[in-house]
Amino acid sequence: MIERTYVMLKPDGVRKQLLDEIIHRIENIGLSVSNVKEMYLDEEIIREHYAHLVDKPFYPTLELFMMSGPVMAMIVEGENAVSRVRSLMGATDSKDALPGTIRGDYGDKTCCTYNIIHGSDSLENAEIEINRFYPELKKNKVLKK
Ligand code: TYD
Ligand code: MG
Repeated sequence: MIERTYVMLKPDGVRKQLLDEIIHRIENIGLSVSNVKEMYLDEEIIREHYAHLVDKPFYPTLELFMMSGPVMAMIVEGENAVSRVRSLMGATDSKDALPGTIRGDYGDKTCCTYNIIHGSDSLENAEIEINRFYPELKKNKVLKK
């Protein structure tokens, strides 16, 4: 099934200048990348995005990290885009991520938080996240009706 998913290069990935590399990896498996934009996240959007983690002891570290610099947001589209992007990313904790995956190759092996990239974990969350990070597209959709 052709799907859309939300992908975000986190501040560590931006600092490591991985935008071109990440786009290449995504395009190399036949998915397309669009709507790339730089964003500075505030507490509110981070809290919404990581609502499932706000009560965890590491949440303050995660929030500070996500505000430590700009992120690069993008929309990725293609056959089974959600799960194929997750495979490209590798395991959440970079020390468990296999070589050849983005987190395995570039993530910080000493701290799970600094893992380079976000990708939606389900089709349902992909649509929610695209709406969250691209309110301007949501508006266009409504206007077209
Ligand atoms: P989660 O949604 O569980 O993982 P994923 O990004 O693979 O979908 O967690 C969101 C982010 O929270 C994760 O990318 C890094 C951070 N995190 C930690 O810092 N420590 C942890 O123990 C976990 C589970 C996540
Ligand atoms: Mg997640």
